[in-house]
Amino acid sequence: MLVLGVESSCDEMAAAVVRDGREILSSCVHGQADVHGPYGGVVPELASRDHTRAVSRVVANALSEAGLAPEQLDGVAVTAGPGLVGSLLVGLSFGKALAYRMGLPVVGVHHLEGHLAATALAAPDLEPPYVGLVISGGHTALYRIESGRPPRLLGQTRDDAVGEAFDKVARLLGLPYPGGPAVSAAARAGSEVALKFPRPLLDRAGFDFSYSGLKTAVALEVERRGELSEEERADIAASFEAAAVEPLVVKARRALEAEGVGALAVVGGVAANRRLREEMGRAASAMGFRAVFPPSDLCTDNAAMIAAAGSALLARGEAHGLDLNSFSRVPVGSAPWSSGGAA
Ligand SMILES: Nc1ncnc2c1ncn2[C@@H]1O[C@H](COP(=O)(O)OP(=O)(O)OP(=O)(O)O)[C@@H](O)[C@H]1O
Ligand SMILES: [Mg+2]
Repeated sequence: MLVLGVESSCDEMAAAVVRDGREILSSCVHGQADVHGPYGGVVPELASRDHTRAVSRVVANALSEAGLAPEQLDGVAVTAGPGLVGSLLVGLSFGKALAYRMGLPVVGVHHLEGHLAATALAAPDLEPPYVGLVISGGHTALYRIESGRPPRLLGQTRDDAVGEAFDKVARLLGLPYPGGPAVSAAARAGSEVALKFPRPLLDRAGFDFSYSGLKTAVALEVERRGELSEEERADIAASFEAAAVEPLVVKARRALEAEGVGALAVVGGVAANRRLREEMGRAASAMGFRAVFPPSDLCTDNAAMIAAAGSALLARGEAHGLDLNSFSRVPVGSAPWSSGGAA
């Protein structure tokens, strides 16, 4: 089964072709760092306008890199939510129009279920049950993953997402957008024990996270010091990164124990973080669990993960009608988009 994936929930316009839900034939991503960089964060109106310019070129590139004509596709999978509605609508409308023109089934995919599906691409041999840690710009959550069932939420952030904290700290430190990779690079020259930043909820039972207190602690420290030297900037970045990563490792370990499963998949943009990969890798060796980290280009937003998630739905006979709509906020497992009608 050849499925075209289309993803435009935030500031990446992406298209990809995946065979049988596992094999990536092409994956094209058009980023917008140049559009949003000057503002230090995503400007929704500019994001959707750029998507409109890019969408047909990105989809055409994905098809030509896969060596396919649209007639050879078996279905279209498109992100329906959550995300920025203006951005979502561009990919959704294009995907539906293509499906309509070619007489193909179209299926709406939940963006986080897409991130989780990156696991099937990176580790096709991994069989559920396993624990999924989704850490991205908008989410920080632990799920139990079972075959044929929606992911079950175990815990999530009560305020900011961890990626959002990386982005805000980058701005406080005068580092460029996107913030996560910039903070991580700065941290390499610093000391993680230079400052003791808070790890909220670390000692509290359960699997919830909190990142707004950490962000505020960094803001107060930066304000107290005024002009920062390179060394101070590196120390703050390293100490922040250590405080951001520790709860992810501790709560993931706790979830694996509580759920009695032996494998963890870490997905979403923050899964690209080097320190997290090292610390989770050490925990996996010490505790004897398997930790799966998809490669970085499958962790940040991409359409291969959407095609993989959509392939599983299409293989089960799920398709949505052409009234398929986009939603800005929608919890995993309760997608409100219509089901059952073929395109
Ligand atoms: N190496 C890294 N270290 C830490 N954070 C990183 C790294 N690389 C990317 N990030 C962070 O990942 C986030 C982007 O990830 P992703 O594209 O999955 O999020 P999103 O799509 O914006 O949010 P969501 O998936 O929740 O809708 C940003 O917050 C970015 O700073
Ligand atoms: Mg994302």
